[in-house]
Amino acid sequence: MPTNRARAKANPTPAVPVRKLTEDTMWSLWRAFALLAAMELDVFTRIKSGKRTAREIAQDAGANEAAMARLLDTMIALGYLRRVKDRYSLEPIADACLARGSDLYMDGAAMIARGLTMGWLQLTEVVRTGKPAVRENPEARAREFFPLLVRSLFPANYVAARAAAASLARERRHQIANVLDVAAGSGAWSLPFAERFPKARVTVLDFPEVTPIAREYAEKHGVADRYEFVEGNLREADFGRERYDLVILGHIVHSEGPEWGRRLVEKSAAALRKGGTLMIAEMVPNDTRTGPAPEMLFSLNMLIHTPEGDVFTMSDYRKWLRAAGLRNVKTLKTPAAPSPLILASK
Ligand SMILES: C[S@@+](CC[C@H](N)C(=O)[O-])C[C@H]1O[C@@H](n2cnc3c(N)ncnc32)[C@H](O)[C@@H]1O
Repeated sequence: MPTNRARAKANPTPAVPVRKLTEDTMWSLWRAFALLAAMELDVFTRIKSGKRTAREIAQDAGANEAAMARLLDTMIALGYLRRVKDRYSLEPIADACLARGSDLYMDGAAMIARGLTMGWLQLTEVVRTGKPAVRENPEARAREFFPLLVRSLFPANYVAARAAAASLARERRHQIANVLDVAAGSGAWSLPFAERFPKARVTVLDFPEVTPIAREYAEKHGVADRYEFVEGNLREADFGRERYDLVILGHIVHSEGPEWGRRLVEKSAAALRKGGTLMIAEMVPNDTRTGPAPEMLFSLNMLIHTPEGDVFTMSDYRKWLRAAGLRNVKTLKTPAAPSPLILASK
């Protein structure tokens, strides 16, 4: 009989980072759920409005004080709160994005994350069958979902768009006068252009359930008088020809799939004036589709929730852009978007 020591020598423990598995199977989920609970209990807004101790915050939220203290201390560990003795305060990111009323408030993000989680719990079955988790009437469900989703996307996309508008303002010799924001949602991608280019007029195209949200944000940003709202389905809508200096495809190609992704690029290119710019904001994986992780996880998110959606590589986009007659394809890194923005000119 071999001794334990001899057995260990014959089968040495492989030097694999086992802890990564614990993190990937449990802790990364727990991080998200802890933050969701804090958002659903609105602890960040309560702290901003002056409730500072676990007792005050718990009373205000109708929650248990000891349990609340544990959640709040975990929020310190995750980088969202600070505490001096028993008094909590907000880290800058929580102050800017997680307390109601702030300009970059991630409105509805917890509800969206909870909704998407229901789909993610079915991923094993989705991979077995190759069919999305949401099967019955996906368009009707999307129309209910988008008005919530676009508010939660606003902060990250607006911050990224501000960087893009600054970059285009530096580069371009002429003004941007006409902008088409396709599938605009809150208008997060076009608002910074309307703010930076005082003559710019923006046409928003989206479902009728969503354009009132773009109007609301345009009003909040003081540019609604230069916004026009077109309601309809982007697959049927006429984008026009040679009409715009800037066409924006902000996080729409991924849900349209490869055929309509390509056609959207084509329609957008036709709608540009000579010298105009197409700006695509998307999750773009590397050309071998092996990373980065957020982009590949997003491709699974599309597999779960859409019949055709996916992420597309820079090679795919270059091919589509070239075929649509666009040139000078460039990428622009911004602080808030995971993948760089894609810019091409006519
Ligand atoms: C992921 S959101 C992106 C919103 C915004 N562009 C952003 O990046 O913040 C997708 C948007 O596309 C709109 N949309 C999706 N399919 C559409 C279609 N077939 N016709 C018009 N709008 C559509 C949705 O209503 C939603 O506003």
